[in-house]
Amino acid sequence: MITIDARKCARDGLCVQACPVNLIRMDGGAVPEEIGGAADRCIRCGHCVAVCPTNALDNALTPAEDYRPVPEDRPDAEAMENLLVSRRSARAFRNKPIAREQLERLLEAARRAPTASNAQQLSWTMIRDPQRLDRVRELSIEWMSGNPARSHYVETARQGRDVILRNATALAVVHGPADYLWTAIDGTIALTYMELLAATMGLGTCWAGLVTAASAAIPDLLPALGVPAGNKVGGAIMLGHPRLKHLLVPPRNAARVTWL
Ligand SMILES: Cc1cc2nc3c(=O)[nH]c(=O)nc-3n(C[C@H](O)[C@H](O)[C@H](O)COP(=O)(O)O)c2cc1C
Repeated sequence: MITIDARKCARDGLCVQACPVNLIRMDGGAVPEEIGGAADRCIRCGHCVAVCPTNALDNALTPAEDYRPVPEDRPDAEAMENLLVSRRSARAFRNKPIAREQLERLLEAARRAPTASNAQQLSWTMIRDPQRLDRVRELSIEWMSGNPARSHYVETARQGRDVILRNATALAVVHGPADYLWTAIDGTIALTYMELLAATMGLGTCWAGLVTAASAAIPDLLPALGVPAGNKVGGAIMLGHPRLKHLLVPPRNAARVTWL
């Protein structure tokens, strides 16, 4: 799996330090080598290749042509903090679809989000078809109708307000194996990547928690969300061109922290 060009290798042991599952060893000043059975345990994270400053190491499971240089132009801490505090949920959207290229750009960012053991078990449905969105609304309302605690939503929906999708023009649904421990967490992180990038693109997002909750209770909702049998919803966000511009950053609770 791992090949090392002895002429280029600086014997600095960086690849040994980088491997999260300890598949590379280096004895003394020798060229590092992979341990037995490494190919079965490699999580394809690419760190061994990415940290080698002399380009000496190749990993057959993550081919060299699939790497690209780390971009130098990254937001500094202040720019990132400004993004984080100014991101808001959007609940009023213009009646204008998001261009497919923009949605593809969001998916490109989301697939870069970390996943447990780099397992990358997530799949996506990007729903834009108005009739399909209507069906999702309808089934989610059906779920809420059986729950007295949510009767106010049902009442508001009866008055013609879209309490489920807020008239968003797209719904991004992430899903993964139903019996997989990390489907919801990996999905949530990926959607968070998507949401933050969307904010920088002038798009509005809002977590569709009601749809996610309903999907676990209403069997018909899974096919409506394009989720195949055996998979569950890991999260969903509404997307669209926002109607409202937030001029202020609202207060939030101070962090409750225990320093030990
Ligand atoms: C897991 C989760 C589920 C949510 N579900 C919904 C939802 O179904 N509908 C909705 O309008 N907002 C939903 N929200 C948005 C929250 O109400 C919102 O994030 C919160 O009020 C804070 O506002 P902000 O996002 O503008 O900071 C959800 C948020 C999260 C994190």
